[in-house]
Amino acid sequence: MSAVPDTTTQRAAELKRVLARAQYEYYVLDQPALSDQEYDRLFRELQAIEEAYPGVRADDSPTQRVGAPVQSAFQPHRHLVRMLSLDNAFDQGELEAWEQSIERVVGDAIHRSGYTVELKIDGAAIALTYRDGVLVTATTRGDGTEGEDVTANVRTIRGVPLRLMGSGHPPLLEIRGEVYLPFAGFERMNEARVAAGEPVYVNPRNAAAGSMRQLDSSITAQRPLRFFGYAAVLPDGGVPAKSQWELLETLASWGIPVAPHRARCHTIAEATAWAHTIEHETRAVLGFAIDGGVVKVNDIALQDELGIRNDRTPRWAVARKFAPDMAVTRLNKIEVNVGRTGVLTPFAVLEPVDVGGATVTYASLHNADQIAAKDLREGDSVQVVRAGDVIPYVLGPVPEKRDGTERPWRMPELCPRCGSEVRRFGDDVASYCTNVACPGRQLEGLVHFAAKEAMDIDGLSYARIQQLLDAGYVHDVADLYDVTVEQLVALDRFGRKSAENLVAAIAASKQQPLSRLLFGLGVRHVGAQAAQLLAKQYGTLDAMMAASPAQLGEVRGIGDIIAASVASWFADPTVQALMERLRGRGLRLDEPNAVQADGPLTGFTVVITGTLPTLSRGDATALVERAGGRVTSSVSKKTSFVVAGEEAGSKLDKARELGVEVIDEAELRRRTDGGREQTVTAGTT
Ligand code: IVH
Repeated sequence: MSAVPDTTTQRAAELKRVLARAQYEYYVLDQPALSDQEYDRLFRELQAIEEAYPGVRADDSPTQRVGAPVQSAFQPHRHLVRMLSLDNAFDQGELEAWEQSIERVVGDAIHRSGYTVELKIDGAAIALTYRDGVLVTATTRGDGTEGEDVTANVRTIRGVPLRLMGSGHPPLLEIRGEVYLPFAGFERMNEARVAAGEPVYVNPRNAAAGSMRQLDSSITAQRPLRFFGYAAVLPDGGVPAKSQWELLETLASWGIPVAPHRARCHTIAEATAWAHTIEHETRAVLGFAIDGGVVKVNDIALQDELGIRNDRTPRWAVARKFAPDMAVTRLNKIEVNVGRTGVLTPFAVLEPVDVGGATVTYASLHNADQIAAKDLREGDSVQVVRAGDVIPYVLGPVPEKRDGTERPWRMPELCPRCGSEVRRFGDDVASYCTNVACPGRQLEGLVHFAAKEAMDIDGLSYARIQQLLDAGYVHDVADLYDVTVEQLVALDRFGRKSAENLVAAIAASKQQPLSRLLFGLGVRHVGAQAAQLLAKQYGTLDAMMAASPAQLGEVRGIGDIIAASVASWFADPTVQALMERLRGRGLRLDEPNAVQADGPLTGFTVVITGTLPTLSRGDATALVERAGGRVTSSVSKKTSFVVAGEEAGSKLDKARELGVEVIDEAELRRRTDGGREQTVTAGTT
């Protein structure tokens, strides 16, 4: 072995320290301090040193997480001290009964000790052995006495320290905790498995456990596994702390990730309240699976006194189990819903099932790619969770339950509501019904049309629109303007007053500007902002309809995608007919304060500076814009002229320096037709 220069040894040690710190900041604290590039650079530097001087390479080097060669089997490994499991308490009563059983043994002392409460992580239990602070083995739980040596796999988990941080590490120590996969990582991993033609994992826990038993740890290294520690034992069965709370703090100080939301409670009532919050609020936003909370007697001396029951479960800890927020049920059918823009959204029709206290019958499946990625088939048994609070979500199929009758699914080629052609645009994941008059789009389309940000039709609620559709009064937005009071009073739940109010509200919406109409029509890619830019630029519906895609794309803030979408929409004869009908109903098809397409300032770029005698900055800007000009904030050679008022500063100097024309408010008024209001009246009869 070549002699290693002292400076190289030092540099390697420093790199190891910096990289280990960076991994800790990234994976444990969630607060990366190094950039990815910087990390990679230092990582490669250390790799290069270790390659040149293999003697420098140590097991605790951050480079040694990349995965070892394929193992033939996992060696059995005896735990320092037996790994116990937990008794369960399913409600407050059972938790109180548990406390009473403790009081019978230790009396009042329990009230002086109190409890530590922790999340019960739904993953795979792992024991990490540290010798003089260095990770030497990682073992599965096994039968509690003996597990399997999965060190090569656990080393790849970035949050598990290869060397403990801080100080005061016992010479030999076993840290226990749970390896888990966050939901997001689980999803990504399954997508990758589908792409590779491999079966998906049914839930994050199975995926974590499977990852631990993966023979090729370079595969484990690709998986976004995480770890939380919750216990530590010494060879004599002791614990390196005086209380559970102190133990968790100690673990954290050694760089071990410890689950969030832990708390100290004085009473079982407090522990119950904590569990309630975790179950009903925290759980939905955690991002990883828990199946309960764990209540532990805080005082370690008291724990020892309480001891173990049946050689299996400690008397000093109990799992407060939650209702499962995941259930398995049958995916009866995949159906397709048509949204207002014609997007086809597949959804699961499930055999009704209770998930965390609510009956779930439907769940969105988002798009065809997601269904393919999960390999969901009609007739499959599927795992359903209520992620992020309330939205039901199909995790994936349970392939072992298949009997061959399941039917793979494809997005229909024809719209299930109207039979028109279904299309995908470019690499957009969504499929669309190409028929603008599709009845499936009607309801959602009308709801959008009536919305506050669109035509703002007061009282035209979802339920009301459904009624109008059911009665056959309306099919599209133009029909709304023909609805009469007499028609409405004939419907359920319509008094004369509310009927009159609704008809009046619909009529009032005729005065909404073109921008709101355009937004309300729900043209693909046209949000409220784009609708305003377009309406302001063109001023009238006719002018907008006459514009080519290229012209539309030249409007500031309008990209090619929006331009193409608008142009192809207006090119549709059904749309043109609809616009004529809206015109016939007397809708205002123009935009007040629009730019004049052929205005006196079209093509001009103007800078306004200083205080003008009568016009505010906003008014002056509007004046320029209505005349077709553009207002910018800084003077350049491209500036057509500068409008200067009192106390014009550096912009005026700049204009003079560049030889840009400077004018006053009076001249601005002259150049903009005297500032008369530009009312655009094209189109309306
Ligand atoms: S303490 C002697 N704390 O749940 C106490 N266990 O159902 C042993 N688990 O085997 C466990 N989160 O794998 C403890 N904060 C936590 C836990 C936890 C998850 C697992 C652990 C245990 C199982 C019992």
